[in-house]
Amino acid sequence: MSATDLEPGELITDDWRIHGSVYTSQAVFAAELERVFRTGWLYVAHESQLRNPGDYITTRAGLQPVIVSRGGDTGEISVMLNRCRHRGATVCQADEGNANFFRCAYHGWTYSNTGELRGVTYDQAYEDLDKSSLGLIRLPRVESHAGFIFASFAAEGPSLAEFLGHAAPYLDLIAQQGPEGIRIDAGYHHIGYDGNWKLQVENTIDNYHFGFVHRSFLEVLADRVGQVPPIVRNILTNDEWRTIDLGNGHSVHEFGDPKTGNNQGQLGDLPFNLIVFPNLCFVGAQLRHVLPLSANRTEVRLYPMLHQGESDEYNAEILRVHEGFYGPAGMGGSDDVEIAFERVTAGMQATEHDWLIMSRGLHREEQMPDGRVVGRADDEVPQRAFYRQWQRSMGAS
Ligand code: FES
Ligand SMILES: [Fe+2]
Repeated sequence: MSATDLEPGELITDDWRIHGSVYTSQAVFAAELERVFRTGWLYVAHESQLRNPGDYITTRAGLQPVIVSRGGDTGEISVMLNRCRHRGATVCQADEGNANFFRCAYHGWTYSNTGELRGVTYDQAYEDLDKSSLGLIRLPRVESHAGFIFASFAAEGPSLAEFLGHAAPYLDLIAQQGPEGIRIDAGYHHIGYDGNWKLQVENTIDNYHFGFVHRSFLEVLADRVGQVPPIVRNILTNDEWRTIDLGNGHSVHEFGDPKTGNNQGQLGDLPFNLIVFPNLCFVGAQLRHVLPLSANRTEVRLYPMLHQGESDEYNAEILRVHEGFYGPAGMGGSDDVEIAFERVTAGMQATEHDWLIMSRGLHREEQMPDGRVVGRADDEVPQRAFYRQWQRSMGAS
């Protein structure tokens, strides 16, 4: 059976089989761009990247290149398509910077840092060009929560607060990590892999894999500290560790009480992992922004979260820990790329029987009165949380 034979409602069965085309089909990917990325709220930047008037960063919303900029006059944050209104070139090439104007390199049209078209070179050649209507296209809604900036292509719809729902208190806790909050202004490193963007999102809270994929890391750690780290045992047996479907596609893995819970002893690490639907993840001391490129190609930008108010030495140590697991020569991130993303994608080319099983712990999920769904640390509660919202977004009932 191919993806074209299946309606969105048939791609995931009631007993949590997921059709492989959810990960491999360009048709499904095209539908996601329309129904997931153009309808809901998308994380775009953190306020610490845009402290001063004129500060900007560039990123993507779905596949669309955007500039997130703090206006010079009002200080307001705009999210604008990075596309010249003349003949389509990107007007800003840098990852980040400070600018009063964005000048298109092709024919020199110039836009203010809030997107108004300010200058058209040799404009006598146009009979009636209405500059006031030719600014960079803005996303109609931009809102922040606890310093995290989200934007939406949809002019109408749930507010950011409604969308975040039960995920909002966790963003608040993240924002309070340092004595004076956090800053995400140390830049990022990124990985690219041949596989679907959802593989990275669902791997963020996949405790089941840890002892297998990261076995060599655990062995090195055991050598260094003289005993096997308790994480794998905790994942399987610790009753305080739990995964929670927070609603709207968001989910969390708590190591005990999220306010006081231990953080596995890693400097700067959060006491929980969090997924904010569809493509924002928090793990360790890291914000992870998952940026799809096609059904089978993904970029992930990993931003270390530093603690505002701590010394440079303290924050440098957070960076070292971050690099130790996730960096290009780190002991963990490359294992996930190889096994959890690229081997999965390679295996899914065997389409003769094209179904995956996502039912781990389904029978022991507990529904709380406020709608949240709780499971054990190694259950696939976060993945099901994601796909419940994904199905709703894709138009399945
Ligand atoms: S494409 Fe930008 S000025 Fe021509
Ligand atoms: Fe992993």
